[in-house]
Amino acid sequence: MEYKIKDIKLSDKGRKQLAWAEAHMPALLYIKGELSGRKPLSRLTVSAMLHVTKETGVLMRAIKAAGAEVYLAASNPLSTQDDIAAALASDGIHVFAWRGQSDADYYKNIRIVLQKRPQIIMDDGADLHAAAHKMGLIPLGGTEETTTGVTRLRALEAEGSLKYPVIAVNDAKTKYLFDNRYGTGQSTIDGIIRATNILVAGKCAVVIGYGWVGRGIAMRLDGFGARVIVVEVDPFRALEAVMDGYEVMGIDEAAKFGDLFVTATGNKNVLPSKVFSKLKDGAILANSGHFNVEIDVASLEKIARAKREIRSNLVEYALAGGKKLYLLAEGRLVNLAAAEGHPSEVMDLSFANQALSVVYLKEKHRSLENRVYPVPDETDEYVARLKLKTMGIGIGAMTTEQKRYMSQWEDGT
Ligand code: ADE
Repeated sequence: MEYKIKDIKLSDKGRKQLAWAEAHMPALLYIKGELSGRKPLSRLTVSAMLHVTKETGVLMRAIKAAGAEVYLAASNPLSTQDDIAAALASDGIHVFAWRGQSDADYYKNIRIVLQKRPQIIMDDGADLHAAAHKMGLIPLGGTEETTTGVTRLRALEAEGSLKYPVIAVNDAKTKYLFDNRYGTGQSTIDGIIRATNILVAGKCAVVIGYGWVGRGIAMRLDGFGARVIVVEVDPFRALEAVMDGYEVMGIDEAAKFGDLFVTATGNKNVLPSKVFSKLKDGAILANSGHFNVEIDVASLEKIARAKREIRSNLVEYALAGGKKLYLLAEGRLVNLAAAEGHPSEVMDLSFANQALSVVYLKEKHRSLENRVYPVPDETDEYVARLKLKTMGIGIGAMTTEQKRYMSQWEDGT
């Protein structure tokens, strides 16, 4: 077995976590059962770069059960749960990941999983796809889990440089409507509370970005009793935030009010250095976007007179004049670095799409071009129906008369 992890002795602990996750991921388990019967991925190598959590563990086991040889690296230096890495390594999955790995090790592990010349690449953030392109690898196809990764792959496609078909798992309705909104909404608050143990009620929380992730975070902060301000540069989204009941303003204005700032834009320096001088003493800064580029941490490091760790994932920066700012999880995605990522129930949906998309690529790659494809509608709908079924929820269906009415134009009032 090839692997590089923190400590294989953690595997018993990890196995219990995996069992707990499996108990909350019935849709993926159902798909795993079906795939392990027919083994559509036999003789294939799959290299994945995902957050090494218990939910990812359940997905990797499903891909292995479908017949593949699986290599796994971490899609963030701080998101690996070492007990899960150990359990997977002892179950025959080649894991190259440990919490707190250096940036150099992060890239080294990418190279290791790509040197296995995978037929399928599964990614979260598109660093693995980017590296595959730089190494000249051309697998049958790949999947991409997150908004940031899909944006990067669309840029590669627009440039005419995408070398294999990729399925944008993020863009499935059964992904972004649930994982991005309810998953990030809950896990971000979880990370903030684990890192700080602050009372959210009565705080002024500034959410920067009002995509699906920002919406989920704003909704949950509101539920906890925070006064929520939204900062959003897109006029449609800003208007939606207003009508969802939030205050909306520019970052320079919001800077004066916020006790807590959460970035969720996918973009760079949305909490830029020029804003730091305007922030209140004691302001807490957290990021929930994929990469650690949203808060200008490098400038914060430069202007700080002193820095000390208060507790795990909470660092105090003392600025000239005595003001203190508090950065969570180094500005890396707080929900995975300071908590455990999205709960299993929601990852059940996302990873059901991942598993089915990998099989789809294997079976259909000959008919696909080098483009970014959506998850097929039938797959998306299948996942929604399967999830409802596992929840014991039955929904009705249109009558024949209703179906006919919905597909005609002649009848009005
Ligand atoms: N992304 C967000 N939450 C996650 C989780 N629990 N596992 C894997 N990837 C995630």
